[in-house]
Amino acid sequence: YNFDVSIKYKPNRKGVFTLALVTTKEMFEKAYKGNYAIGAFNINNMEIIQGVVSACKKRNSAVILQVSKSALKYAHPVYLKKMVDAAVEETGLDIALHLDHGPDFETCKLCIESGFTSVMFDGSHYDYEENVAKTKEVVDYAHAHGVVVEAELGKLAGVEDEVSVAEGHATYTDPDQALDFVQRTGVDSLAVAIGTSHGAYKFKGDAKLDFDRLAVITEKLENAGFKNYPIVLHGASSVDPDVIALCNKYGGDIKGAKGIPYDMLRKASSMAVCKINMDTDIRLAMTAAVREFMAENPDKFDPRGYLGAAREKIQALVENKIK
Ligand code: G3H
Ligand code: 13P
Ligand code: ZN
Repeated sequence: YNFDVSIKYKPNRKGVFTLALVTTKEMFEKAYKGNYAIGAFNINNMEIIQGVVSACKKRNSAVILQVSKSALKYAHPVYLKKMVDAAVEETGLDIALHLDHGPDFETCKLCIESGFTSVMFDGSHYDYEENVAKTKEVVDYAHAHGVVVEAELGKLAGVEDEVSVAEGHATYTDPDQALDFVQRTGVDSLAVAIGTSHGAYKFKGDAKLDFDRLAVITEKLENAGFKNYPIVLHGASSVDPDVIALCNKYGGDIKGAKGIPYDMLRKASSMAVCKINMDTDIRLAMTAAVREFMAENPDKFDPRGYLGAAREKIQALVENKIK
């Protein structure tokens, strides 16, 4: 890990030169026009942050670092915020700090007050009208504080935080409702359900995403005046077979895991998807590296050995993702 000591200072919104986190607004505008997407990686500790941002630095890429409610509980918002500030200072990259799957107004407010530049309010498990009302409340508060908001419509299968949705209870996003939702809430980006799911077990058979639905959602938004409206893809880890094989080689027991193939992520990025969420891939990379290091070095007990190996593995994974 090579620390960069040349620090770039940028003007903030008031024109003062300072190192600052950015929102996703400009990132998404560029991503939409350039037919690519920004990687959004879940962070919980220093090694994950450093692994992700050093990959982004190598590829000169903007990035979204996102924090779930359980990550806030695990690491504390102040530690996470200050480590992400350190990443901005060290790399000079465009980095947005985002709350992932914010469960309520209070958590969104806490993150806004803590200096996050983007929050997600996830009201997808509420009934439609309640999702609209609760999302609007977060949007109004966030916008008044210069923070952007992502919301979700439709239900992804899989497990996230304390919410678990069985495969049969997942519902794809309805395009008419998506337009109505964006119009009524003023939300800045929308996470949609088109067949992805959280976790390592996304498909029993072949991978399949409903790209036609994504195209219709985009078309309806465009026709109503929402040009280049950014769509977010959750549950987008690719669960690489070689990483699973490495875990299993060194004592792991992960069976039947399957993710989103890379060509589908590329297709989604060439469409309206501007943000691709990945957490499971980082967990798998980290676990594989730690297992391998432990097994190959039974006499070593310095945490910097196995955590350093994990950080390197994350860096390689993220570099590949961005490419
Ligand atoms: O979508 C959820 C993310 O994978 C976060 O998971 O709540 O266990 O941190 P977590
Ligand atoms: P994965 O479980 O596919 O990594 O998805 C993560 C995610 O959507 C975080 O919000
Ligand atoms: Zn998610």
